[in-house]
Amino acid sequence: MTILVTGGNGQLGSALRLASSGSSHCYLFTDVAELDITSAETIEAFFSKESVDIVVNCAAYTAVDDAESDEAKADLINHKAVALLAEACKRHNATLIHISTDYIFSGEADAPYTEECNPAPLNAYGRTKLEGERAIAESECNAIILRTSWLYSEFGRNFCKTMRELTATRTEIKVVADQFGTPTYAGDLAEAIVEIIESGQYSKFGIYNYSNEGECSWYDFACEIARQSGNIGCKICPCTTADYPTKAVRPRYSVLDKSKFVSTFGIEISQWQEALAECIKKF
Ligand SMILES: NC(=O)c1ccc[n+]([C@@H]2O[C@H](COP(=O)([O-])OP(=O)(O)OC[C@H]3O[C@@H](n4cnc5c(N)ncnc54)[C@H](OP(=O)(O)O)[C@@H]3O)[C@@H](O)[C@H]2O)c1
Repeated sequence: MTILVTGGNGQLGSALRLASSGSSHCYLFTDVAELDITSAETIEAFFSKESVDIVVNCAAYTAVDDAESDEAKADLINHKAVALLAEACKRHNATLIHISTDYIFSGEADAPYTEECNPAPLNAYGRTKLEGERAIAESECNAIILRTSWLYSEFGRNFCKTMRELTATRTEIKVVADQFGTPTYAGDLAEAIVEIIESGQYSKFGIYNYSNEGECSWYDFACEIARQSGNIGCKICPCTTADYPTKAVRPRYSVLDKSKFVSTFGIEISQWQEALAECIKKF
C-alpha cells in the first residue's frame, strides 16, 4: 500500500516518520515544497503519478493567534485545500485520514465532548478547521477524521518545549490555570494512526476523538513538564485567561471523550503524564 503524508515536516508528520519506520508499506512524506495542498494541479499530478491508497493529512495552518488577522490564509489551508484533497481521494478511491481539533468546540461544556456534540468554534482557526471537516463530508470520500487537542512533541515549537526552556532559564513564570483540556503526545497519535493503517482498520470511516487520557489546565501541564524535566528552580504561578490576553479566544474546557475511538479500534490510550514522560525521554 502507498500512504501519502502531507505536512510531513510538522510535529505530527515528523512523529509519523518515526512511527512508520518499521512498516512494510510505502509511506511518502511530503511538505509544502513537494506537495502544496492548496494547488489542485499539484495534487492531481501527484495522484496520477503515484497510486495512493491512503492520505494522512498532517498539513495545516496551526498558528491559532495569527489566524485571527489572516483568516483567509488559514481557510485556504485548513478548509479549501482539505476540500481539494478530499475530492482527489474520492476520484482516486483513496482513504483520507484527516486531523482536526478540539478548538471546533465552544468550551462551555462541563463534561468531555463526544463526537456528536455540536461544534461552535470561538476563533478563526477553529472555524477554518470545522469547515475542513464539513468539506470532507460534502466530498463523500472515504475518511477518518481524528480530532485531537494540545499537541506537543520533541519536534517543532510547542508548549512542552517552551515550558522546558522557560522553567530552565527563568526564576518565575505565569501560566493560565482556568483553561482545561488534555495534552496529546504527537508520538502517541502517530502510533495510533500507523496502527489503524497496519491493522487494516482504515475502512472504519467516521469522526473520532483522540487525545491522551485525563485532564488538566495549562498550569498543571507546565508544572508537570518542569517536574519531569528536573527544572525545580522556577516558581510557576497560576494566572487567569484575563491576566494573559491573546488575540484568539480559546475554549475554557475542551476535554475530548475517547470512548468511541477505543471501542472501535481497540487501541489503548495512555494518561497524559505517562505520555509526557515518553516525550521527555526523547529530548
Ligand atoms: N498543534 C496543536 O496543538 C494541535 C491541536 C489540535 C489539533 N491539531 C491539528 O493536528 C494536525 C497536525 O498539527 P501539527 O502541530 O503537527 O502542525 P504543524 O507542526 O504546524 O505542521 C503542519 C505542517 O503543514 C505544513 N503546511 C502548511 N501549509 C501547507 C501546504 N499548503 N501544503 C503542504 N503543507 C503545508 C507546514 O509547513 P510550514 O511550517 O512551512 O507552514 C507544517 O510543516 C493539524 O491538522 C492541526 O490542526 C494541532
